[in-house]
Amino acid sequence: MTQDALKAAVADAAIAEITPMLEKSTVLGIGTGSTANLFIDRLAPLRDRFKGAVASSDASKARLEALGIEVFELNDVGTVPVYIDGADEVNGALEMIKGGGAALTREKIVAACAERFICIADGSKRVETLGRFPLPVEVIPMARSYVARELVKLGFEPVYRQGVVTDNGNQILDCFEVMIERPVEMETRINAIVGVVTNGLFAARGADVLLLGTAGGVERVT
Ligand code: 5RP
Repeated sequence: MTQDALKAAVADAAIAEITPMLEKSTVLGIGTGSTANLFIDRLAPLRDRFKGAVASSDASKARLEALGIEVFELNDVGTVPVYIDGADEVNGALEMIKGGGAALTREKIVAACAERFICIADGSKRVETLGRFPLPVEVIPMARSYVARELVKLGFEPVYRQGVVTDNGNQILDCFEVMIERPVEMETRINAIVGVVTNGLFAARGADVLLLGTAGGVERVT
């Protein structure tokens, strides 16, 4: 099976997972990326069965609205019962690296407000140890060089993602060369650097459910 077919399979599985909980008052949290897009496309035919969505990026907001799904501000919603999103890497503890699409900060905010986080990923994203995928760190632009020097002290090789401005008007440093043995600790350490908005480790708040697309079918991991 192709990677795209595996992504489609987990998007289908996520639809099956959330359909029983849809009510007229339900506002879903929706992630960002190609896997999340496949989920959004499959959600569209169900649009009359729930109230709407909170989006983790301008791109997902535009896609949801184009498909007739109303998008709400998180501040007006408070919490969402479930957040559905992809990942760049996920380990056995359902800790993740996210932010390949530069949406990590809003993704982390919506995930923080979600009662349940369902991660949808093709099998290539499953790793034993996080870190082969470069860890994205969103920074305030004027702090970029300072933050990069601090990340070097932690062992990383940070690379400025040229030409990318996040939905929040910030920049991204992609951090190479560290295999992350203790993700919660590393997430906290990086967030403590002045000028960091957030980093792509989703460990303190990992996923609750992983729907993993494999050649043998979709595995449901909790
Ligand atoms: C965007 C993300 C995505 O969830 C992550 O990059 C996975 O993307 P895809 O589903 O396209 O493989 O964190 O910031």
